[in-house]
Amino acid sequence: MKFFLDTANIAEIREAVELGVLDGVTTNPSLMAKEGVRGVDSILGHYRHICEIVDGDVSAEVIATDYSGIIREGEVLADLHPNIVVKVPMIRDGVKAIRYFSDKGIKTNCTLVFSAGQALLAAKAGATYVSPFVGRLDDIGADGLQLVEQIVQIYGNYGYETQVLAASVRHVPHLIQCAEIGADVVTCPLSVILGLLNHPLTDKGLATFLADYAKVNA
Ligand code: E4P
Repeated sequence: MKFFLDTANIAEIREAVELGVLDGVTTNPSLMAKEGVRGVDSILGHYRHICEIVDGDVSAEVIATDYSGIIREGEVLADLHPNIVVKVPMIRDGVKAIRYFSDKGIKTNCTLVFSAGQALLAAKAGATYVSPFVGRLDDIGADGLQLVEQIVQIYGNYGYETQVLAASVRHVPHLIQCAEIGADVVTCPLSVILGLLNHPLTDKGLATFLADYAKVNA
């Protein structure tokens, strides 16, 4: 399973790269705004900066919601760096644009997916990734992981090559369950990846080993 970091924060991206477990990055307009990145030139520069740090796919989201606008923005983004994946919302013109990008060999991430039907459309349009939002479904009392499971099964039934990128992954159990289900990728904050390190028996065991070593090597 690939680990993507869901952030536009350069320091966090560097930290994950240094840990040696990062396969890519996803961003969205809210995450870019959180970092104070504004204006077209700064936004494009920020994406380029992320691509220079990460050896893997970097999702950059279009703002346009009409077909020609999505194509225009997507082509500018794709030209920035070979690692760029054009992130396109699951809307009618978005599906059309994904087909266009796919035919041109431009990688896409179909975002804001909340149903199996939407995921089926994304795969048929040739999306590279489909992003079901686990946490946001849980937020409204639905079952986000069940959707991931459904998509994995449907794609398996027909051999679709679109990768299931579980998004809006908020905590360690989400990530582990995505791995059990067979999601191809999870994208989450750095805290979730670092959370995988934790077990009290590891801490206790290490303390004992170090204390026993110190007793005879003082
Ligand atoms: C997906 O690519 C989105 O950027 C993201 O995972 C949304 O997560 P959130 O629901 O925690 O904002």
